[in-house]
Amino acid sequence: MSDKATLEVNGQKHEFPLITGTENEIAIDIKTLRATTGGVITIDPGYKNTGSCESAITFLDGEKGILRYRGYAIEDLAEKASFLEVAFLLIFGELPDAEELEKFHSDIKAQSLVDDDIRKIIDAFPKSAHPMGVLSSLTSALTAFNPSSVNVDSEEDMYNSVVKILGKFPVLVAWTLRKKHGLPLDYGDNSLGYVENVLKMMFHKPNEEYIQNQIVVDALDKLLILHADHEQNCSTSTVRIVGSSHAGLFASLSAGISALWGPLHGGANQAVLEMLEAIKEDGGDTKKYMAKAKDKEDPFRLMGFGHRVYKNFDPRAKIIKGSADEVLEDLGIEDSILDIAKGLEQEALNDDYFVKRKLYPNVDFYSGIIYRAMGIPTEMFTVMFALGRLPGWIAQWREMRLNKEPIGRPRQLYVGETHRTFVNLKKR
Ligand code: ACO
Repeated sequence: MSDKATLEVNGQKHEFPLITGTENEIAIDIKTLRATTGGVITIDPGYKNTGSCESAITFLDGEKGILRYRGYAIEDLAEKASFLEVAFLLIFGELPDAEELEKFHSDIKAQSLVDDDIRKIIDAFPKSAHPMGVLSSLTSALTAFNPSSVNVDSEEDMYNSVVKILGKFPVLVAWTLRKKHGLPLDYGDNSLGYVENVLKMMFHKPNEEYIQNQIVVDALDKLLILHADHEQNCSTSTVRIVGSSHAGLFASLSAGISALWGPLHGGANQAVLEMLEAIKEDGGDTKKYMAKAKDKEDPFRLMGFGHRVYKNFDPRAKIIKGSADEVLEDLGIEDSILDIAKGLEQEALNDDYFVKRKLYPNVDFYSGIIYRAMGIPTEMFTVMFALGRLPGWIAQWREMRLNKEPIGRPRQLYVGETHRTFVNLKKR
């Protein structure tokens, strides 16, 4: 096979090298395209065919339904590893040994205090504010309280920033919920595991002991692992592109949170549950909503269905569906929403429209049902996604800086007016 691609522009042939990844994916390296063709560019809205970087963090094959972090199958990690092990793996490239994991956790705990002045910022938000907006603002505000920028050439500096954000972020996550519920803000309990601490920080009441439920702890741990990275998706690309201007880590993460919020991305988990609720209230007629989803005149889409990359099945959705059954059964919860979800899935899997377009349930189709069973309010679902995605964003930001990637700055094809003569205000 040739190791070059040939492109003919205006009768002239140009050759571009092919690069092959470790999983034999092939890319055409067009770095010299503009220079050799006299300014010709490519147009690819939504970057459906464009690789923005080389990355050694996450591999996914959307046709085969494969997802691996640093080479390890998502199924193995979800079953056998903890969220903190996965965070370490994603960020530093290898699974930690017991000593490294313990040090990692204790360094994170040492950083879990958030400047008390951040309370003043949270106080200024109305209770009705969406937790994702609050989380994004608070994450950005961390920059003001930790102004020195990370020296990316120093491993120690990088490590300190990683543990700092992993320590403080869960506190901010919990505060967004506590603010909503009018509960006092506090700093958690460092004697607990990472996930236990998150749950206690979110739910404990000042006048009651908080009792951990191991089923909930394990299910949340698994959900966070499943959400931990997904290569160059919308929010991760945002984190990388913001960071490519050498903006700081917290500012880049804050931008990623905003990108995740949208209903076509992480916000889909909230949208799925709201859709299932609406179908239930409307009498549970799934066929009616299937028809709406297929009607091109109707803006309604079956939320939690379809994926830019997965065109066979989303391996995370498979694991989550099993988990949803287990968690609801273990907690003794009967939720008719789960039946509606399963009904919709069955209909979609047997419907020509969905089959032809390769639309399958994605990670968000069942995650909301589990969050709901855990007592997490719908508006917090995307915040939980952000908590899970945090190590992925950090890993991708770190990789981008260590690889010394250039500032992200796409080109455009201008289709506006050509040169016009300026007309003075009085004459217009
Ligand atoms: N319901 C109905 N039709 C759909 C759906 C859906 N959920 N998703 C895609 N389609 C249709 C489109 O209308 C289009 O049809 P056409 O070819 O007749 O025009 C075709 O399938 C292809 O869809 P695109 O929007 O072009 O696919 P794209 O890759 O750009 O979008 C996306 C992927 C955004 C995920 C889309 O499938 C969607 O909107 N899904 C619902 C929202 C959702 O669940 N998002 C979460 C994604 S996972 C995550 O981010 C964590």
